[in-house]
Amino acid sequence: MGKNAAALVDGIDDIPPLPAVAARVMGMADDDRTSALDLAQVLSTDQALTAKLIRISNSAYYGFARRVSTVREAVLVLGFKQVRQVAVGASIMNTFKGPKRDDVFDLDLFWGHSCAVAVTAETLAKKTRMAKPEDAFTAGVLHDIGRLVLRQALPAEFREAVLKARSGQMSLHAAEVRFTGFAHDEVGRALGERWKFPGHLIDCVGGHHNARLTPEADGLAGVIAQANRLVLHYGLHCGYEVDGEVESPALPPDLARVEDACGGIDRVLDRAFSFIEGATGTPETWYASAAAAG
Ligand SMILES: [Fe+2]
Ligand SMILES: [Fe+2]
Repeated sequence: MGKNAAALVDGIDDIPPLPAVAARVMGMADDDRTSALDLAQVLSTDQALTAKLIRISNSAYYGFARRVSTVREAVLVLGFKQVRQVAVGASIMNTFKGPKRDDVFDLDLFWGHSCAVAVTAETLAKKTRMAKPEDAFTAGVLHDIGRLVLRQALPAEFREAVLKARSGQMSLHAAEVRFTGFAHDEVGRALGERWKFPGHLIDCVGGHHNARLTPEADGLAGVIAQANRLVLHYGLHCGYEVDGEVESPALPPDLARVEDACGGIDRVLDRAFSFIEGATGTPETWYASAAAAG
């Protein structure tokens, strides 16, 4: 248990607000015809986001043959929920600026991990029917967001924590508590509250390191916790890679089921990469261990 995360989040003046468009589309009711047109209208007010949406719609992330050239077409072809999910994901990914990488932590790998969890969670939610796939994707993009707050608020301490994690001696989750005094799942929960996220999203950000959660017993929170475990199992860490050779333990049976549901970790990574490419531009760095995974 770390220090009071809400006090940390409240004490930082320059925490970015939730992007206005993301806040508006998150609150929009599900898919009747009127709301689909409303959605296209709201999204069109943000030109940069519109461009990203169209890029993602035409990317390997979806693999459609048909070209999409407007937001309205995207809503028609992909559907209301998909477009909302992509819009929220892409706008959150462009919220935290800061240096893209320092000597230990890399934002490309942070989003790589987060999007891999999002893609896994979305598919797992679809297969198990234990959560809404679009919620699972959004929660996956967000689940480690507390780390970006820690990096911004306590840069020196956070750097020490990442260094420790990179040495392979302890998880970043344990190291950050030791060096910063805070746990990123609690910080993420506090940020979610400040951003006024729906309660079920806040709960799964706050609970994603509970290894006992399952989709069947815990719904969305279980989907995110298992997706996160699978992605970490393959060494796709949140913002860094462990230095040197890493022994990979056998895949536990519950995670084998998750990987099966997603069509393999390589496919997850391909889709995550193309989502990031559309949302923020081509990543400059990617997991070296991805070549060995799968
Ligand atoms: Fe985490
Ligand atoms: Fe994670």
